[in-house]
Amino acid sequence: MKHVLSVIGTGYLGATHAACMSSLGFTVIGIDSDLEKIARLSKGDLPFYEPGLEELLKEQLATGRLSFTTDFSASEKASVHFICVGTPQKANSLAADLTFVESAVEQLAPHLTDGSLVVGKSTVPVGTAQKLATQLASSAPTAELAWNPEFLREGFAIQDTLRPNRLVVGVTSDRAEQILRECYEPLLALKTPWIRADLPTSELVKVAANTFLATKISFINAMAEVCEAAGGDVTVLAQAIGYDPRIGDKFLQAGIGFGGGCLPKDIRAFMARAEELGAQQALEFLKEIDAINLRARARVIEVVRHLLGEDLTKFRISVLGAAFKPESDDVRDSPALDISAQLSSAGAHVVVHDPKAIANAKKRFPQLDFATTANECVTGSDMVLHLTEWREYREIDPTAMKSLVKSPIIIDGRNALDRDLWVQAGWKFHALGRKNP
Ligand code: UDX
Repeated sequence: MKHVLSVIGTGYLGATHAACMSSLGFTVIGIDSDLEKIARLSKGDLPFYEPGLEELLKEQLATGRLSFTTDFSASEKASVHFICVGTPQKANSLAADLTFVESAVEQLAPHLTDGSLVVGKSTVPVGTAQKLATQLASSAPTAELAWNPEFLREGFAIQDTLRPNRLVVGVTSDRAEQILRECYEPLLALKTPWIRADLPTSELVKVAANTFLATKISFINAMAEVCEAAGGDVTVLAQAIGYDPRIGDKFLQAGIGFGGGCLPKDIRAFMARAEELGAQQALEFLKEIDAINLRARARVIEVVRHLLGEDLTKFRISVLGAAFKPESDDVRDSPALDISAQLSSAGAHVVVHDPKAIANAKKRFPQLDFATTANECVTGSDMVLHLTEWREYREIDPTAMKSLVKSPIIIDGRNALDRDLWVQAGWKFHALGRKNP
């Protein structure tokens, strides 16, 4: 018989996990304290943008296997409980805020039936799982805790959940591993690599993976700085080193760097945790990774000043892209919006367009102006900044766009546009890490 599952926290991770597990045939109860979120999810109305997820949500609700509620007692019907709440950066420190995880376990504990398995999926500082296991041992002694980090990327959430490149479980008993094998049986049938670890290792796997990815991006952005100084071209360099399978060609896209709800806060929380553990020296390099990343944003501002002059007050600057990456409406720590806000603070009239993220961007930065189309955004502008590499921007006809702007100057902050095409159309084209006119 299939386990009945509960998913605590129905944000990005939880909503995806709930819908995907339901699609594998499980009965899934999604629980969240946010009334509005639950009301929307129950109607099949996804509160954020993720390709394909709203369709999957609707389809799974229609099967009757998937339901959502704010009532924690509904978890009594389930025997496996996935904790999917957020762990944002604390307001005044680098560390992760664990309030939501702790409160989820506390609220769940009175409803746990004998032998329940509580499975943490949230990204947490190493040592959190052991603390929660101790907390559970006193509040629900027959329940057990496991950790099962997730690696889903926004924009590919369904694919990464249903076709993950590995499954990692941190367990303290064979029984817990067996239950998790039963939950993921359809994925194991696809020969997904299965890694059994202890609790701390499973927590570390997630932050280590994100740290490696952040390091790779900052590495190529450091190379971009050197290329600019030496007259080289980072896009050619990335292509050339990427052919070495030990290096690989992914995550070597130089530009304005990483943002989002994971990479920036995860490397900071990792540094904070290492310090608590007395291992800060091992992660000293992450300060530099963070600094290179923020410098990529600052370099764009410098280029703007170099091209337009120190006084930006008389200029209209058009920004294409607000989301932290394409195929997402997420603007958390978005490099594009950070740059937009800095230019606006410097006095420029900044107009931003994004295919999906305008509503979220407006909430976060009401001081900016927003346009509903890319053409409206660039009309009359003194400079265009391409800061999130949506496909629709790559398909822009530079000749047609030239007729809308006041001066045809563009900075490609993502090295994603076809420079030759833009230059041929008469644009002054500036790219990060490449030879510029
Ligand atoms: C990341 C991890 O990839 C995922 O495994 C984890 O579960 C959550 O964190 P996500 O935040 O969705 O996923 O975004 P990701 O695709 O990793 O991109 C992060 C940032 O890096 C984006 O701002 C993106 O624009 C930037 N990036 C990515 C680059 O600047 N260059 C690259 O080559 C790749």
